[in-house]
Amino acid sequence: MDWGMRNRMARMFNPNSGHTVMLAVDHGYFMGPTRRLENVGVTLAPLLPYADVIALTRGILRTSVPPTVENPVLLRVSGGVTVLHEDLSDEMVTTPIEEALRLNVCAVAMSVFVGAPHEHETLTALGNLVSDGEASGMPVVAITAVGKELEKRDARYLSLACRVSAELGAHIVKTYYCEDFSRVVEGCPVPLVVAGGPKLDNDEAVLKLAHDAIAAGAAGLDMGRNIWQSDHPVAMIKALRAVVHDRATVREGMEVLKAELATPKGTRGPALA
Ligand code: 5RP
Repeated sequence: MDWGMRNRMARMFNPNSGHTVMLAVDHGYFMGPTRRLENVGVTLAPLLPYADVIALTRGILRTSVPPTVENPVLLRVSGGVTVLHEDLSDEMVTTPIEEALRLNVCAVAMSVFVGAPHEHETLTALGNLVSDGEASGMPVVAITAVGKELEKRDARYLSLACRVSAELGAHIVKTYYCEDFSRVVEGCPVPLVVAGGPKLDNDEAVLKLAHDAIAAGAAGLDMGRNIWQSDHPVAMIKALRAVVHDRATVREGMEVLKAELATPKGTRGPALA
């Protein structure tokens, strides 16, 4: 890897833990103004000190994030359909690598839809994006999307989708946690980050997902709804950081969360892992 590529990769991972807590706020690109993400700037501001990376689109970056932020940016560069479309796999690359360079981002991300009607188009687009990324020193994150078929999130399917993404050259793969996740990790030679998916029932379940993913070998999280749809997003992301960076157990993570909630609001500091 050239220095630029290595530098961008290094900036996304905590040098001590080697892990990352990416904060995903890119949902609007196909879901519109998702609950609690109606105004991304407002949702994002209190979470910025705790996000190792922020994942979003160029439109939200330009309109809702001050150019003074220090967080590395993971730019979503695919899109083209909405939740109203029958086939969510009908995506293409919507933002060229030149623009990602101009926006000074750390990596670009696109969805691939393995086993879906547009499998071929999204996989070949990933190959082309990796070629552009290699030429520009820009890491590419492949997102193994499942569209509306959430039941696809099992080890057999995800290990196929992750491995194919890595074979096409993705530098990082974003996927879902599943039972037997270590099988997905074993088959994928690049770092895996785990999405949260739809909001889970309780805080403990979120921390358990993060804990089990890290224990199985994930390099971190790229999580959205289970952080900013929480009633206490800052406490949640702090607890997740303890699990991801300090290898806290679920119980210890819950203690971090409860301690944060017990601290009077005005006195809560950034206290980073
Ligand atoms: C949207 C995405 C999201 O960034 C990804 O799913 C992570 O968010 P969440 O934890 O809410 O699932 O790729 O298409």
